[in-house]
Amino acid sequence: MKALIVINFKTYKETVGKKGVALAKSLARAKRNGYIVVIAPTLLTIGDIARSISIPVYAQHLDAVTSGSHTGHVSITELQEMGVKGTILNHSERKVPFSVLKETVLLAKKKKFKTIVCASSIAEVKKVAALEPSYIAYEPPKLIGSNISVTTAKPDIIVKAVEAVKAVSRKTKVLCGAGIHSKEDVGHALLLGTVGVLIGHAVPKANNPRTFLESMLL
Ligand code: G3P
Repeated sequence: MKALIVINFKTYKETVGKKGVALAKSLARAKRNGYIVVIAPTLLTIGDIARSISIPVYAQHLDAVTSGSHTGHVSITELQEMGVKGTILNHSERKVPFSVLKETVLLAKKKKFKTIVCASSIAEVKKVAALEPSYIAYEPPKLIGSNISVTTAKPDIIVKAVEAVKAVSRKTKVLCGAGIHSKEDVGHALLLGTVGVLIGHAVPKANNPRTFLESMLL
């Protein structure tokens, strides 16, 4: 199984508007060395980006709606029409109530749309495992945006998360994120039993994001 590297563009000044589109195009040309690189662009650039790159594009959020009277919502129908393959859900910067999360994961499953459900603690990992999303991403909020990798600060919790998910579902795989900024962090995450990582600031804020990404995929 190929490891997954999800680059969450959030809404950094380097990732919004035309800069975001150019950045996604450049990262899509990076040497991937057997890894699957996924870009999660801002919701306002996702259409342009999904139509112009051939690596997988995921949304940063999805609402439990299809077509219809849903002002201000992110619809799965429209994302799929753009070529978007999946979504992050319940990121600690975009939490949703559990009942809504459940409805959204169910809708995504019905539409064969991948889901990465984020969880901030082992208790939350266990709770969301019951939904059997495609992936559960363990991300401790205090380390998000820092250069202290979750793999160094919380290796024991990552192992516990992998075990907890395995006990509930053989289909759902585990990712981790927060502070990931080197090839050692990526390697460590895989050794701990995850199938990949989510990366926020380290790639878009690097001097040369594409070269930096390639240096993480050795
Ligand atoms: O979704 C990824 C993210 O929350 C981790 O952010 O900046 O710590 O890599 P960062």
